[in-house]
Amino acid sequence: MRSILMLMLSITHTQSLSSCPASCVVCSDEAVICHKLSNIIAAPVTTKALMLTDGTIVSIDHHFLSIMSNITVLSFSHNTIATITYDAFWNLTVLHTLLLDHNLLSSQALGGSTFSWLQRLVILHLGNNALGEINGSWFQATGALRTLQLEGNRLTGLDAGTFASADLQGLETLDLSDNLIAYLGKDSFRGLPQLRSLDLSRNQLQSAPPEAFVYLSFLSNLNLELNKWSCTCELRDLASFLNKYTEAPQKVLFNGRKIVCVSADNPAVTTLLELTEANCVSPNHNITVMIKANASISTQRYTRDLALAAVFCFAGKYHNVCLLMPL
Ligand SMILES: *[C@@H]1O[C@H](CO)[C@@H](O)[C@H](O)[C@H]1NC(C)=O
Ligand SMILES: *[C@@H]1O[C@H](CO)[C@@H](O)[C@H](O)[C@H]1NC(C)=O
Ligand SMILES: *[C@@H]1O[C@H](CO)[C@@H](O)[C@H](O)[C@H]1NC(C)=O
Repeated sequence: MRSILMLMLSITHTQSLSSCPASCVVCSDEAVICHKLSNIIAAPVTTKALMLTDGTIVSIDHHFLSIMSNITVLSFSHNTIATITYDAFWNLTVLHTLLLDHNLLSSQALGGSTFSWLQRLVILHLGNNALGEINGSWFQATGALRTLQLEGNRLTGLDAGTFASADLQGLETLDLSDNLIAYLGKDSFRGLPQLRSLDLSRNQLQSAPPEAFVYLSFLSNLNLELNKWSCTCELRDLASFLNKYTEAPQKVLFNGRKIVCVSADNPAVTTLLELTEANCVSPNHNITVMIKANASISTQRYTRDLALAAVFCFAGKYHNVCLLMPL
């Protein structure tokens, strides 16, 4: 049985070399690099790098890949992949880099077994897909992973459960930028003790607990800019942590002093790091509507504005909206 299989493989091998598609820039025994394909082509069993990018491939299944047991680099970047069969990456035990960015992968497309063969995987790029949530079970057998790119997806929050079942003890770089993350729990990164670089820029965070970062002792590259920071007293501890962090040698907070407050009850506070005990305004303070004495205002308008103010203050209760009457 095995010898028949080997024979078939060697025929495939010869055919694939002699029929290298025109859009391939490299077709050798060890590397196949092609653009604009609509299918995964049968590359030689000896292939070490297979890069089929910028095409219209819609799914990955195992028929073509499992035979390439020495493959170390696999890229399907910039295709339209929406499905990956559970056995797609079987036997790829020496795979080092897997690039699946710029595709149409949803969270449902990945499962506990998708990456389970990839014990030597170091770099995994899942950026610019349609992932709505992370399931730690995807990473339960990827203990060698150092870089995980998840930017440009639809992630909305991270909590203690996110990486709970993951084996990411050695992960050093995590890119979560350009998602829809509005919630960050204290223990979101608990399973990632070696994290050095964390990018949370371009998300929807109004606040974040400093505890989420405190225990990341190797963290030296943090990016929090372009979120929806609401600079009330609730963020005082985060600001204080970040000020200490930036003062430590070798620690970088990207664009640190320029992290903008999208809302702040105290108009004097425009950036997150400016926030202190002394200048912060409590998110739960009693809102006082300030109305300038103005003789020309009719009683009717005055009453209407007061009613509006009450409505806005109520609606703003959880968003710390401070309202000053425009009189
Ligand atoms: C994989 O690499 C090993 C060691 O270089 C080699 O002996 C083996 O033939 C290769 N296998 C394939 C399928 O190319
Ligand atoms: C892949 O691994 C499975 C399980 O170890 C094995 O049965 C199968 O023959 C392998 N497939 C190839 C194409 O090497
Ligand atoms: C994560 O995936 C596992 C296995 O596929 C599944 O049993 C579990 O329900 C998933 N968890 C969540 C939160 O979706």
